[in-house]
Amino acid sequence: MKAVPMIDARLAVAALAATFVSLPANASPELARSKNCVACHHAERRMIGPPWNAIALRYADNANAAQLLSAKVVAGGSGNWGQMPMPPQANLSPDEVDALVRYILSYK
Ligand code: HEC
Repeated sequence: MKAVPMIDARLAVAALAATFVSLPANASPELARSKNCVACHHAERRMIGPPWNAIALRYADNANAAQLLSAKVVAGGSGNWGQMPMPPQANLSPDEVDALVRYILSYK
């Protein structure tokens, strides 16, 4: 009977690893599309809003980048990239905001 808990533990580790491996790969570009961020943002080209790679570059040395940008995504605002305002993005869970911001910051 001693072997059973060992197997359970290994299964749990495998399941956890699978979650970590499968989540960041695809979830965020799809999330950006489904939440309509891509109506104003492109990865490398300026549209109505700044491109993801420019945002990632600007905040590359900022230790608080994730917090700052999460707050900005939720509340919206203007003046950091021009006069065009970003409207507040409602209907995002904290997890979704977190995933989107990590995705954007990964463009540097
Ligand atoms: C209607 C157009 C529009 C939509 C939709 C939009 N944005 Fe923006 N976004 C902007 C504009 C314009 C700016 C520049 C604001 C400024 O100058 O401060 C911006 C800026 C940003 C920034 C940089 C903020 C800063 O202070 O440097 C991030 C991060 C961002 N957007 C993420 C998102 C995400 C994630 C979504 C989808 C949930 C999204 N945006 C949807 C227009 C938009």
